[in-house]
Amino acid sequence: MHKGLAIYPGSFDPPTNGHLDLIGRGAKIFEELVVAILRNPEKSPMFSLPERLEMLRQLTAEFGNVRIDTFDGLMVEYAKSAQATCILRGIRAISDYEYELQMALMNRKLEPTLETVFMMPADKYSYVSSRLVREVAQAGGPVKGLVPEVVEEKLREKLDPAYKLRDVRIMEMTESHGGSELDRRDRKMRKRKA
Ligand code: PNS
Repeated sequence: MHKGLAIYPGSFDPPTNGHLDLIGRGAKIFEELVVAILRNPEKSPMFSLPERLEMLRQLTAEFGNVRIDTFDGLMVEYAKSAQATCILRGIRAISDYEYELQMALMNRKLEPTLETVFMMPADKYSYVSSRLVREVAQAGGPVKGLVPEVVEEKLREKLDPAYKLRDVRIMEMTESHGGSELDRRDRKMRKRKA
């Protein structure tokens, strides 16, 4: 095991099974691994920062040496302030290589003491990206097996019209009915969905 702390930075919008695979591999070789979510006010993510934090916390709870954090500005500055020695990034296919190489070399130029370590996720996740997961889910396609179940459920909540309709109905009922009627109808709807 490599002594010291590594940062695994990214957008994680949403976390995929590929990310989790890499976290598992990173947790095995680094003493401590910090999954660092970029706070980027210019991007409009599908999942808010608190949502991504919560999902990643749940998903990594089993690892004693992994924690989740957020950062903004230059990643190397964040890594330095966290006293990290390595940056962990995943490379899936050759198409990732050019961008990752550029980023690693730029980061090295900015902070020569930090090493970027590349790891490959399991080949079954080599085509999985957050962007494609969002695209498939938004078009109503299945993402089972590509993302953890917690994320699948969150995507469903966000995108499934039935869930949205349920929320609207609950809001309407809150305005016009008492709590017991609301509970009864909500329970009925949940049962129908299950
Ligand atoms: O999951 P992503 O979107 O591929 O992650 C990209 C990320 C967050 C690692 C990268 O954009 C980043 O480090 N941004 C922070 C700003 C920064 O340091 N930019 C210079 C990188 S060379």
